[in-house]
Amino acid sequence: MKHLIIFGPPGSGKGTVSEEVGRVYGIPHISTGDLLREHVSKKTTLGMKAKKYMDRGELVPDELVNEILEDALSREECRRGFILDGYPRTVAQAEELERILSKLGLHIDWVINLNVSEDEIVKRLSTRRVCKVCGAVYNLVTNPPKAEGVCDRCGGALILREDDKPEVVRTRLQTYVKMSAPVLNYYVAKNKVLDIDGSGDVATVRARVLRALEEKSVAKQH
Ligand code: AP5
Repeated sequence: MKHLIIFGPPGSGKGTVSEEVGRVYGIPHISTGDLLREHVSKKTTLGMKAKKYMDRGELVPDELVNEILEDALSREECRRGFILDGYPRTVAQAEELERILSKLGLHIDWVINLNVSEDEIVKRLSTRRVCKVCGAVYNLVTNPPKAEGVCDRCGGALILREDDKPEVVRTRLQTYVKMSAPVLNYYVAKNKVLDIDGSGDVATVRARVLRALEEKSVAKQH
């Protein structure tokens, strides 16, 4: 029951919900966006290749993302479950995921699809700030740091992500509609999608997600 994908447009709250659900279930949160940003900040060859796509709000080529994903999923801790955030983003990635998981004797249980209006997305992304050092995520309106511009967790500086600038957000939203929405149909056809209302505060969205997973778990036992 705990091999999960969280799906939804940029800024819909995937990272935030994944952290919460991961904590409750004791499973790792694997975000390809975070893994790519780590490569970029370490200036690895893969990071340097990925950066130009990320800065423009476009998808990084499948072969680069698939490589980091397979590495992450092969970790021992993923055997008890995981929550995948930001992958798959194309139908080719969904097929690749199936191949990787079948090698590991695993399969996806549920795809949590967060529905949030475009107005709310633009609001959330323009007010998001992230720690330059540890990557912790804040929101100036809904989850501000204790001291302005400083990470509560590590004291690092809080910044606006390069790809949260309004012109890049627009491209990311277009890319999502064009490339990633078909991925949802792929999982709808497999009866794996749980549609969740992603509006409201974090506690409300978290409760909706946990309730939906709980209902599926109870239904499976009967
Ligand atoms: P990635 O990092 O995955 O970006 P994304 O999908 O655009 O999603 P975000 O991280 O922007 O938002 P989120 O949904 O996690 O929202 P969050 O929880 O932070 O990818 C970045 C780039 O990497 C891509 O553009 C692409 O180039 C590349 N990439 C990554 N994966 C790839 C792949 N598989 N293939 C190819 N390329 C790939 O929340 C947003 C804000 O809202 C925060 O401030 C948060 O505090 C706040 N918030 C969250 N929930 C709530 C709530 N319920 N109420 C109020 N505020 C909330």
